[in-house]
Amino acid sequence: MAAQTASDINQMLAFRTNSTFPNVNIISTSLSTVLQPARVVSSSRFLNPFVVALVVIAGVALVAMAIGLLIHFLAFDRKACFYRSSFQILNVEYTDELSSPATKEYRILSEQIESMISNIFKESNLRNQFIRAHVIKLRQSGRGVTADVVMKFRFSKRNNGDSMKGRVQAVLQKMLNNSGGLEINSSPGITTITSQDTENIFTQACGARPDLLTLSEERVIGGTLADDGDWPWQVSLQLNNVHHCGGVLISNTWVLTAAHCFKSYSNPEPWTAIFGASTVYPKRRARIRSIVVHNNYRSGTQENDIAVVQLNTAVPFTKAIHRVCLPEQTMSIVPDSTAYVTGWGALTYGGHTVSDLRQGQVRIISNAACNAPTAYNGAVFSGMICAGVPTGGVDACQGDSGGPLVQEDSRRLWFVVGIVSWGYQCGLPEKPGVYTRVSAYRNWIRVQTGV
Ligand code: ARG
Repeated sequence: MAAQTASDINQMLAFRTNSTFPNVNIISTSLSTVLQPARVVSSSRFLNPFVVALVVIAGVALVAMAIGLLIHFLAFDRKACFYRSSFQILNVEYTDELSSPATKEYRILSEQIESMISNIFKESNLRNQFIRAHVIKLRQSGRGVTADVVMKFRFSKRNNGDSMKGRVQAVLQKMLNNSGGLEINSSPGITTITSQDTENIFTQACGARPDLLTLSEERVIGGTLADDGDWPWQVSLQLNNVHHCGGVLISNTWVLTAAHCFKSYSNPEPWTAIFGASTVYPKRRARIRSIVVHNNYRSGTQENDIAVVQLNTAVPFTKAIHRVCLPEQTMSIVPDSTAYVTGWGALTYGGHTVSDLRQGQVRIISNAACNAPTAYNGAVFSGMICAGVPTGGVDACQGDSGGPLVQEDSRRLWFVVGIVSWGYQCGLPEKPGVYTRVSAYRNWIRVQTGV
């Protein structure tokens, strides 16, 4: 019975084999031979079932190994390598503007240097290993400028560190002739640094979010709930250990915030500043030494809604706690550009504050549009700036006051352009958030804090 069935199958499959499915022949032959070992079915020794099975298994194993190796070498075999370099640029005269990353001059020269370096590597045999270059400082040297730069590469783990350093160095030599308008003094030397060194450098500088701390290739802002370290300058100002207002770290001792936060309690004693994305599990706390509210703060109109708070002890900068960049007085903020507002404020008008930091993406609105009769009808002064979304729904709200409205520049540095100040309810269409325009108070901040 079994033999009969097997033979039937064999015939049936054999028939199909002869017509349209040549591959099935292998299966049919093996099937029949297994079931009827005594009968020699196949016409060729090639199709011996064991050989076929072996060949198939070996083939699959080879392909799997090849894929595995490929994945290994493409993804896991590579390690990040960081280098630091300094070189002198002869044909750019040093001016005071180059001392602050907030100026247009600093940004333009840094961009020029960064693209010169990245062009050199993209035209070299290290084009697949080069990730990014970032200017960390511009210094005066003689009449010219010295640039301090960090660079990131991804090399195979099997490569030897010294030989890689040599290759990077050799490519950098090309800066001497192929410098895209910049005249480089002499061949730049490089030092190998660790990822921790790189992180420390960016932690001490202003305005770096996690992607810049690692010089990573991707930049992401997802969801509305923020992760620890996503907005490292965000501060919660607490009154008797209850969140009252937001604030933003502008140095290791000074927090920028809104004047109206201190309307009822302006004595520093009951206040504390807390750091980290969660107010339930703070990363750090600090007492407040002094509170400086703008002399001309007007509670009726909210003009000059700005204050600075001095911490009792300097907070050490870490990956998750460091300062934002302050914009220059002259910084123009482009209507319709993207900005982010962050805080522990209420999610709806009249709601409760939350314990996990949240972020909202909004767009800058010109003062003219914000003063339209259907919007705020002239209540927005030149020291204020509006931001929101046309349909409403994303906005700051009660408890976000004093917190930052930030924007990223072309070099991935983040600037505080606004301080949450007021709005009609929260998230209504045509009633955007109104912020203190930080650039208008740049000088006031410098006079009060030295920052
Ligand atoms: N004044 C509020 C506070 O003390 C902030 C209001 C912001 N409102 C707005 N719709 N953006 O927390």
